[in-house]
Amino acid sequence: MDLQATARAVAAALAAARRVAFITGAGISAESGLPTYRGVGGLYNEMTIDEGLPIEEILSGGTFARDPALTWKYIFEIERACRGAAPNDAHRLIAALERRCEVWVVTQNVDGFHREAGSTNVIELHGNLSELFCLVCGARSQCRTFDGLALPPRCADCGGLLRPDVVLFGEMLPERAVRRYEIEMTRGFDVVFSVGTTAAFPYVYGPVVEASEAGLTTVEINPDRTLLSDVVTHRLAAGALVSLRAIVDALGP
Ligand code: APR
Repeated sequence: MDLQATARAVAAALAAARRVAFITGAGISAESGLPTYRGVGGLYNEMTIDEGLPIEEILSGGTFARDPALTWKYIFEIERACRGAAPNDAHRLIAALERRCEVWVVTQNVDGFHREAGSTNVIELHGNLSELFCLVCGARSQCRTFDGLALPPRCADCGGLLRPDVVLFGEMLPERAVRRYEIEMTRGFDVVFSVGTTAAFPYVYGPVVEASEAGLTTVEINPDRTLLSDVVTHRLAAGALVSLRAIVDALGP
């Protein structure tokens, strides 16, 4: 099926839906100019790692505990690659769907763009890069740019080590976000989207597989194939923005 025909089929399912979930990853922010993590041009492929370690190890909770300056060095690189970017129309189209039905966004992205674009029900599974907290006194602060921070950054109040409120490799997901995700999944969705993610983690592909097996409408939006490509009801093999625009156009006013 071509993109327009698939978009019409997805729009028909959306028109009848009461509750819709969007599980999103780095691909939805690619059109904001942010690099993805994996794949062509992905940060993990492009970064030069002086220490000869896998990036997943550098960005892990274990390395952060042993050598926070090393982990922070690459967090700075990620932040630098994201600096100055803003939500794009794909984020805004999802937010605007709230006028038609109940929409939940479950995102692995740490850029905060879904909220910024106006989505109100957002579960940030991997946290938010611009929120820092002190490991000693717990003070929290918003930091839009890491430019000028010391390596590693220290708390202005007590001098304790700061870290961004993101999930590093090997760390648990934030409890409240997971609980909310479970509650909303149990309440059920009529349509479940996977947008711009390699769906590398069980908590990303699992709910989409379960929804498919339960006979619900599932949709993948991704120019590349993933573990979910043969599982979903509908697959749009194109970018997030062009795909969502085609769906919303087919949905009509
Ligand atoms: N529109 C939609 N999808 C796109 C686009 C686009 N314009 N451009 C690229 N993609 C797809 C790629 O094909 C790829 O499948 O987005 C996906 C991005 O995959 P990853 O870089 O692996 O990002 P993600 O799935 O979000 O990674 C999950 O892994 O490293 C951790 O914590 C990090 O949150 C991240 C998590």
